[in-house]
Amino acid sequence: MKRTLVTSALPYANGPVHIGHLAGVYVPADIYVRYLRLKGKDVLFVGGSDEHGVPVTIRARKEGCTPQDVVDRYHQIIKKSFEDFGISFDVYSRTTSKIHHQFASDFFKKLYDEGKFVAIESEQYYDEQSGEFLTDRNIRGECPKCHAPEAYGDQCEKCGSTLSPDELINPYNAVTGNPLVKRATKHWYLPLDQYQPWLEKWILQEHKEWRPNVYGQCKSWLDGGLKPRAVTRDLNWGIPVPIDGAEGKVLYVWFDAPIGYISNTKELCDANPEKWGTWQQWWQDPESRLIHFIGKDNIVFHCIVFPSMLKAHGDYILPDNVPSNEFLNLEGNKISTSKNYAVWLNEYLEELPNRQDELRYVLTANAPETKDNDFTWADFQARCNNELVAVYGNFVNRALQLTKKYYNSIVPECGELTDTDHEALAEFAQVKERVEALLEDFKFRDAQKEAMNLARIGNKYIADEEPWKVIKTDPERVNTVIYISLQLTANLAIAFEPFLPFSSARLRQMICMDTINWEDLGKTDLLPAGKQLGEPSLLFSKIEDETIQQQMDKLEATLKANEAANAKAEPVKSTIVYDDFQKLDIRVGTVLECERVPKMKKLLKFLIDDGLEKRTIVSGIAQWYEPEQLKGKQVLFIANLAPREFKNGLVSQGMILSAENYDGTISVTTVEHEVKAGSQVS
Ligand code: 2FM
Ligand code: ZN
Repeated sequence: MKRTLVTSALPYANGPVHIGHLAGVYVPADIYVRYLRLKGKDVLFVGGSDEHGVPVTIRARKEGCTPQDVVDRYHQIIKKSFEDFGISFDVYSRTTSKIHHQFASDFFKKLYDEGKFVAIESEQYYDEQSGEFLTDRNIRGECPKCHAPEAYGDQCEKCGSTLSPDELINPYNAVTGNPLVKRATKHWYLPLDQYQPWLEKWILQEHKEWRPNVYGQCKSWLDGGLKPRAVTRDLNWGIPVPIDGAEGKVLYVWFDAPIGYISNTKELCDANPEKWGTWQQWWQDPESRLIHFIGKDNIVFHCIVFPSMLKAHGDYILPDNVPSNEFLNLEGNKISTSKNYAVWLNEYLEELPNRQDELRYVLTANAPETKDNDFTWADFQARCNNELVAVYGNFVNRALQLTKKYYNSIVPECGELTDTDHEALAEFAQVKERVEALLEDFKFRDAQKEAMNLARIGNKYIADEEPWKVIKTDPERVNTVIYISLQLTANLAIAFEPFLPFSSARLRQMICMDTINWEDLGKTDLLPAGKQLGEPSLLFSKIEDETIQQQMDKLEATLKANEAANAKAEPVKSTIVYDDFQKLDIRVGTVLECERVPKMKKLLKFLIDDGLEKRTIVSGIAQWYEPEQLKGKQVLFIANLAPREFKNGLVSQGMILSAENYDGTISVTTVEHEVKAGSQVS
């Protein structure tokens, strides 16, 4: 094959991107592309924002702005996040671009003119009050399976069932809450059933090498029998359907978005044909290899729908592979844009500045390649500190610091090799082949593990050889040990470039290695004797407990806020008679003094004026108030509760009443107008 075209799913521009996006799609795609570039291959990496579709319109309504405002904002944020994390797109454009609108429109028109669609009139849900047809996502109702009250028209988030709007009980407009009626509307469908025999042969027989999760999902779609799919929608945000009689209709977002891969390629090639050639070379020449990096919810669109569109068109190559990852969870919970439960890339970099490679490393080490995986901050810290700092960083630092100390940072001559030298060299000579085979097979976690192995070999070698001791007895020998260590260091800079481009660049600067090439991996003369190296500095620094704690607290706070937002009031306790209530003597007291209790973190000690005397009340609300905030306040308390003694001998004479919010926060009860201390509450 002459060239490789790599695409990565176009993220919806309805929110920033998070670690799930990075782990699932963009880091693996970037590793692959960087590797191919290092090998000197002809490769083009296409990305862009998916700016149409219902999620964008929902966000716009929520925020009270236009869909265009939403996508303008998030396109910039997403684009910047990708740049910040070194996702090295050759082009990152957007589906609201003129070029894309024209291209997608022409694509549809050609298929329409050639009779590739079938027009079907059907009854769809319609909101008579707002005057609009509703898409699946905008319809809500009771789930027919688990009876959750707010399932979506395409899915129930509670029980995970895939649904169609017709199955919902009492459907309503998710935005306005209005009830819905059925109304006839015409749409154009791609008759996927006609492509079924061809797809079965192409995927099930000719692409058995695809990842089992991808192949398996395709097989189950095909086994279920494909049905025609609508490629138009009744919506006012998107690319207008370019035919007469289709007013008020747009192309379905999943029809136009994958065409974005092509139109973005066109945008790049048209702008610089000398460098990139023509877009047709990339998309229509059988000598091009097309690879789609996606997440598992995109499999059907990239393996079945888009290939059928390309086949229907007739001029295009088809994907050679579709490496799809499963999902990444976060601390055991599903990542959710709508619930704000995620590690957002823009926020990560503000809170952990310059630690792009740390995140890239951990997300690859723990990539959900074969099954869903969990990201935890504890694992993040452990991998950074025990692997990046203690293995890779430590080896490089030792090699460079010793070179500085013994040789003024000039590469020494290599002497005669011993058996241990040969052993170390033989081991690292195999790394190139291994990493390469794994990368070609889209096994990025194992490939990165192999690269790290190189650093482990180096660490063991230098620890076994103990140059800091040998220098006293046999300085000649140290020349060789350091020479070999430096060659290993240079190899690490190459091996890690696809995975950790930022630290690799820093390392290359330290060892004055201007250019790198994948084919040099495994060589033992990358840094020739006599070469002057630069100033060494630490490649990675430790992640402190405090940093991790802050991140965990942040997630915990989001969970609590969501819980509070969704929580329902506790059921009312069993009925009591008025006499029971009267037994309680609830009064208003004025807080004369309030202070913390030494060694009892949760407690505040109050001195209360109860109208008759001063009494001490101890309350477990120190987490929620500073003592000064409560001084002088009038609070409600139970005056006739039996005294309670605390461990340290402190006795509480009563109880201050407070309300516990759904998120667990506490608020003390007060009176609206000042009253005399001792006033009774009834
Ligand atoms: O799932 C998503 O986020 C979609 N926006 C992916 C689109 S991929 C391609 F077809 F553009
Ligand atoms: Zn359900």
